[in-house]
Amino acid sequence: MHDFEGKTAVVTGAASGIGYGLAERLAQEKMQVVLADVEEEALDKAVKQLQQYQHRVIGVKTDVLIQESVSDLFTRANDEYGNIHILCNNAGIGANSGNKGIWEVEKEDWDWTLGVNFYGVLYGIQAFLPHMIEHGEEGHVVTTASLAGLLAGAGTYGVSKHAVLALAESLNRDLVARNLKIGASVLCPGFVNTNITDSERNRPQHLRVEDQTETDPQALEMFSLLLKQGKEPSEIAEIVFKAIKENVFYILPHPAWDDNLRNHFEEILSRKELVPPSMNDMADFFKPREDGEKY
Ligand SMILES: NC(=O)c1ccc[n+]([C@@H]2O[C@H](COP(=O)([O-])OP(=O)(O)OC[C@H]3O[C@@H](n4cnc5c(N)ncnc54)[C@H](O)[C@@H]3O)[C@@H](O)[C@H]2O)c1
Repeated sequence: MHDFEGKTAVVTGAASGIGYGLAERLAQEKMQVVLADVEEEALDKAVKQLQQYQHRVIGVKTDVLIQESVSDLFTRANDEYGNIHILCNNAGIGANSGNKGIWEVEKEDWDWTLGVNFYGVLYGIQAFLPHMIEHGEEGHVVTTASLAGLLAGAGTYGVSKHAVLALAESLNRDLVARNLKIGASVLCPGFVNTNITDSERNRPQHLRVEDQTETDPQALEMFSLLLKQGKEPSEIAEIVFKAIKENVFYILPHPAWDDNLRNHFEEILSRKELVPPSMNDMADFFKPREDGEKY
């Protein structure tokens, strides 16, 4: 996509973290931006913050767990700004299933994680793509996955991110096959300094797990520390913007993980026993790298 000024973008999960960074970066291109999020207070604050810089933005309270809510988001965005050109399906959560074996994870955890991280993205594609195809102007769809969608062993979160990565790959193939003017990217970050370890704040009542005793506060604390020393959302947004301009599909903003990726795919091709990394291997990520790159 080449022309941004005066065009319209919709970003889900835009009240915080990577989504806010994306909304801000696209608004800086003089795009109209619709910020969508389930957290109303944070959304209002984010919209006001961007309006202070005279950006043309609105906020639409949206719960991507609910298909109708995502359809309403499309209607609201389309009524306000007309044609939509960029869709960032970014809203996501990180459920903490503690030390449970994958066979022990409750249905509520599966429903919440796959509901937001996979179905939320699917609903976005279903609500916006027919319109983006019909108006025929240049467009782009960004799906926020994770390196957990390419590496093994990240539990329910990893399952949801593998699923959404495959969804984005299929979307890309289908767009290319139809020779449409809509590009696609899938964002696979490592650690980014956001509020994702506090995802429980957005878990709906009916998907809460009765017995929270098995959540692992130590693992959560360790993740919070790793995220704090990760990249900033504004750095990720800059890389995503470049990928939209150059129509790059796989966005891998953390080269510090390249060896892990290479080793993982080599292990698969070795046809030998595959041992996914465990939380205990995480200690390595606290050691600063010589090249200054962040995990
Ligand atoms: N932070 C990281 O290190 C990291 C790494 C890889 C991938 N990601 C992915 O980045 C995306 C953004 O997460 P983040 O790290 O910025 O976290 P964040 O918690 O700071 O932001 C996520 C936003 O999504 C919103 N959200 C949650 N549930 C929602 C729902 N049902 N409907 C609408 N909005 C909802 C939250 O209110 C929040 O504003 C997620 O998909 C996440 O999986 C993050």
